Formats: sequence, C-alpha cells, structure tokens
Amino acid sequence: MRIAAKGLTYVYNPKSSFATQALKGVDLTIEEGEFFGIIGHTGSGKSTFVQHLNALIRLTGGELKVGEYDLADKKCKVLELRSKVGMVFQYPEYQLFAETVKKDVAFGLKNFRKGISAEETEAAVREALSVAGLLYDEVAERSPFELSGGQRRRVAIAGVIVTKPEVLILDEPAAGLDPLGKKELMELLHAIHGQWCKTIVIVSHDMDEIAENCTRAAVFSEGKVAFCGTPKELFSRGEELAAMGLDVPVTARCAQILRENGIELDTDFTCGDFIGKVLALYRGDGAPAPCAGGEQEPAAARAEREEGAPALREGGEDAQ
Ligand SMILES: Nc1ncnc2c1ncn2[C@@H]1O[C@H](COP(=O)(O)OP(=O)(O)O)[C@@H](O)[C@H]1O
Ligand SMILES: [Mg+2]
Repeated sequence: MRIAAKGLTYVYNPKSSFATQALKGVDLTIEEGEFFGIIGHTGSGKSTFVQHLNALIRLTGGELKVGEYDLADKKCKVLELRSKVGMVFQYPEYQLFAETVKKDVAFGLKNFRKGISAEETEAAVREALSVAGLLYDEVAERSPFELSGGQRRRVAIAGVIVTKPEVLILDEPAAGLDPLGKKELMELLHAIHGQWCKTIVIVSHDMDEIAENCTRAAVFSEGKVAFCGTPKELFSRGEELAAMGLDVPVTARCAQILRENGIELDTDFTCGDFIGKVLALYRGDGAPAPCAGGEQEPAAARAEREEGAPALREGGEDAQ
C-alpha cells in the first residue's frame, strides 16, 4: 500500500482560543515496501501525521491516500483500513489490559474479524506471539503485568500484527528501552518487515536508529516536511538538521571530523559501511584520496601500505 499525502493540514481545537495548527501542508509519499523513518523535534507534527494514516485522526484538510483507501472520501471503509494499517503507540505496554496475554493479543483480531472461530483465533495469536519473539506456551496464560517491560512491549506489538497489517506504524517504538532492548526491537521490526508487514513506518528521535534501519526518512519541522531522502542524503545535510535542532548519527559526526582533516568518506552512515570505509582508508585498499588541502598520508603509513611490512624496516632505514 502506497501512502500519499498532499497538502495535509490539521488544527487541534479549531474555533477555540486553544487552536493549534499541528500540520501545515504535509506533502509526503511512502512507497510500498519501505522501512520509513519520521524524524523531527517535539511538536513538529509527527504523531499527528501518523495518526492520520489509519484514520485515528480524521482528515480535515488536504488529500491522503493509503493504498486504495481515499481518506478524503466520507465513505472510506475505516475499520477495514485499520485492519490493514496497524498502529503501535509510544509505550504500547501501558495499553495492555486483559487478564491474560492470549486475550490481549486476541482482542484486536476479534474486533476486526467478527465471528472468527476459537481455533483460528488461537492459531493467529500463536503465530503473532512467535513473530514477536515470545513462546506461546510460556506466556499465553500469564497476566501481561507479570512480564518484563520488554516482553510486554512485544505482547503489545503482537496485538497489532495479529491482523497481519500491510503497513505497520510505530510511534517512538524504542523509547525507554536500554541499548540491548533497542537493538532487539529493531531486529524484531526487520523480521516483521520481511515476514508480515510490507511497509514499516517508525517515528524516532534516534538518528543512529534511522541511519541503520531506514530506506528513507522525512524530517518534520513546524507541521511540514522540511526534507525527505535516504539516510545518506539526509545526514549529508548535517548543518541544516542542526539548524532545526536535530542531531546527526555518530557516523556523520565522525565523517565531519574526517572532512575537517581533509578526508572525504563516501558513506551511507551505517556503522558497517562507515567502519568498512575507514578500515579501507587505513589499510590503503580502495581508500579515498585525501581531499585538496588535506593532510598528506604519513610516509610511514604509506610504506606500510605499499610493502605490507612495518614502516620502520630492519636497520632503522627510513620507510621511504
Ligand atoms: N491532543 C492535542 N490537543 C491539542 N494540541 C495538540 C494535541 N496533540 C498535539 N498537539 C499539538 O500539536 C502540535 C504537534 O504535536 P505532535 O503531532 O504531537 O508532534 P510530535 O509528535 O512531533 O511531537 C504540537 O504543537 C502539540 O502541542
Ligand atoms: Mg509524538
């Protein structure tokens, strides 16, 4: 399902003295199959935008199409849309409420597929829990409140993916998790992306997370999309991001330091690519040439590279 927004506007509390224009004309297209990131400082309209995608917030201005669903059409089948576009809110574990994990995960499914049999429900819940990285036999009959925070978040995600949505939207999915928890969550989202949901949209503050995981990302600023592109395109514009109060990934900061020292690295800012390029530079295989005005390669390093031998050779002879 392709998502296409054009001139999307939204005002909270219109016609009151508290009116807030949260979206001021969002133009954005997300292609089917993407792992798409939405970034921007607090209050830039990210949550308001994503809640439009499954009509949790009804369209009041502009155009929005999600697959074949036209959100501007009063006859748009909203319930059907919601079963295809799943939404995981920030801290979703706080929305768990049933007395067992099994009942909690089944809740959404029963809501969308009236009359579904007990066997079908159990099979779907089992599968969703397994995709979410939980063992049905271990957790199904337990109260969600007995589980760890990370497990509860997985249960909440299972409760959304149980309908097999084509698009999965997560608002700040890794908020509050420790580094290992974040890494495992991202691995889970990639597994879901491959297996179940064609398109994933994540709202995130974490630029490293965006650089590592997303096909493209949009930068929201004051209710609009300031720019949109691949992580490589976005993080090459570090100064503009800084002007919007946004950070860049650690790899982009390191690339900037190298640039200031005369070395231009052509990297996509993922850790793997960045480290690979730095190692190539260090070893001298396919290394980028130092840029004009930059430091020359130290003679000792060049000798080591060319000879594959220690720079200072026997007899204390100079490496050159
Ligand atoms: N329920 C609400 N009622 C009134 N104003 C809101 C509400 N939710 C968000 N806003 C306002 O709308 C703007 C955009 O908010 P939001 O979409 O939550 O941004 P973000 O997710 O980027 O932090 C902000 O100015 C925020 O204060
Ligand atoms: Mg938000």
